[in-house]
Amino acid sequence: MPEPLISDIDLSDMVFWALPRAQRHAAYGRLRALDPPPFFEAGESPFGVPERGYYALVRHADVAEASRNPQLFSSGAGATSIFDLPAEFNEYFGSMINMDDPRHARLRRIVSRAFTPKMIKKFEEDVQRTAGVIVEELVERGPCDFVQHVSARLPLKIICDMMGIGDEHFDMVLRNTNIILSGADPEFISENMNEALTQILTSGGELAALVTGLAEQRVAAPADDLVSSLANANIDGEALTPAELASFFVLLVVAGNETTRNAISHALLLLTEHPDQRELLLANLDGRIGPAVEEIVRYVSPVIWMRRTLTADTVMNGHAYQANDKVLLFYAAANRDESVFGPTANEFDITRSPNPHVGFGAAGPHFCLGAHLARREISAVLRELLTRVPDIRAAGEPDYLLSSFINGIKHLPCEFS
Ligand code: HEM
Repeated sequence: MPEPLISDIDLSDMVFWALPRAQRHAAYGRLRALDPPPFFEAGESPFGVPERGYYALVRHADVAEASRNPQLFSSGAGATSIFDLPAEFNEYFGSMINMDDPRHARLRRIVSRAFTPKMIKKFEEDVQRTAGVIVEELVERGPCDFVQHVSARLPLKIICDMMGIGDEHFDMVLRNTNIILSGADPEFISENMNEALTQILTSGGELAALVTGLAEQRVAAPADDLVSSLANANIDGEALTPAELASFFVLLVVAGNETTRNAISHALLLLTEHPDQRELLLANLDGRIGPAVEEIVRYVSPVIWMRRTLTADTVMNGHAYQANDKVLLFYAAANRDESVFGPTANEFDITRSPNPHVGFGAAGPHFCLGAHLARREISAVLRELLTRVPDIRAAGEPDYLLSSFINGIKHLPCEFS
């Protein structure tokens, strides 16, 4: 069978990621039709070493299968980014997302125990209350940039409160997480590769220093926050080392901020573009908010991909891979796979059921640690908005982040009556 022409699609070229979203999804559709999965050269490495390319796993079945088999599809070999991380980056960015068992399991166990039922209950209440305050202030302010005044604020406040980071550090934390996941966006990061790497390392270093200082205080005088429970031994006598705590904190604030914010911003855009879906949601907020949040995460896919590296030769879904091959798990493409979501895969439908999306990753050891919190945050803010200002809408075009990794919105004007 002749191979369908895909020579016009290059997932390693930032030109592709500047295309309108509809074109991006049309390209995923063409890639999903390919057998075997398409292979892309990695492009220029920012670290100055030649880098091998990757297979793009764009089908739901491939993403699910690779996530389920961490022994074969490793997160620790190299990294989960396209380019292997050099040692100095691992100091700040080498946390559990870039590890395999047993190191991953140990960290995840310590961290999961730190989320005590008492702490989870407290943050659930905090999320709803904070969402209420943010929307109250929005109503007083009037039309504004929705990202700055609504969607960026909730995840930042909640994650900092959980860790015990004071309000005076919020701006610094947000500035640094923006730089770390800036992709190639000149609003946040230098277009000069060396300068950009220095900026990213500096941001990691500033965040690490913040939590290291806090941990020293909490070891001396524990408080009711996550840093205290991570820096002091738990009932099994386990604690994170200072270096583990620093890189976990960087992962948590980056993952906590740069994903949920975008889901919330996209949600406003989607409800503006789909008035029928807004009506459905308003007609039964309690009954439909849960499925609506799942559909937002599916449709938006705030995290576009994660990488895995083959540890041995294997055959998956009929295609042979070799040890050391890289694969990128394209959640954004898997979430529009017609073989799973049917002919309406490209439609935004808040009543979709079932909705086996992989927006938080597919089932496996690395499934998003913050999925529960993220769902809470998105639904709390939508609930407050649709109760207080039910006609809130995007008042102009979104200003999108230039990134292959994060489906981000930097600015979005909003208005309401
Ligand atoms: C809509 C919001 C979010 C999305 C779409 C999202 C998505 C993801 C994805 C795709 C992964 C990788 C799964 C894998 O490699 O198999 C992940 C991992 C992770 N996420 Fe999230 N996430 C969100 C919110 C959050 C929040 C709020 C936090 C923290 C409070 C968080 C913390 C983490 C951590 C720590 C990991 C690594 C888990 C591990 O390696 O074991 N995420 N997330």
